Amino acid sequence: MYFDAELYNTMDKPWETIIYFLNKTLPKLGWNSDQPEVVMDVGSGPGYLSKHYILPAFPNVKKLIAMDATASMIEVAKVRHPHPKIEYVVANMEDR
Ligand SMILES: C[S@@+](CC[C@H](N)C(=O)[O-])C[C@H]1O[C@@H](n2cnc3c(N)ncnc32)[C@H](O)[C@@H]1O
Repeated sequence: MYFDAELYNTMDKPWETIIYFLNKTLPKLGWNSDQPEVVMDVGSGPGYLSKHYILPAFPNVKKLIAMDATASMIEVAKVRHPHPKIEYVVANMEDR
């Protein structure tokens, strides 16, 4: 599996669908509670969504673990979208 972080950053994203999911669907599922929870963003990519959309959807989150199997994605995320509550990790969700 290979994803080019720079190429991915140049591509359009389905932001409206993502924002709808975060703001409308997650609350219906009870997933945006204001409890101090730990949230995981699996396949976080270059971190823009993690910092600017997922983090604000969980106002009292203790920590957001943003993981991606592609090391270059995490490298870009750490540089461009750092946040004290976000821990960027290179990891494959299929590994045990
Ligand atoms: C289409 S990008 C989405 C990035 C980001 N969530 C966004 O919406 O901008 C999919 C990402 O999932 C990652 N990915 C794919 N399979 C994965 C796996 N098994 N474990 C962790 N990350 C994975 C890829 O490296 C890629 O960065």
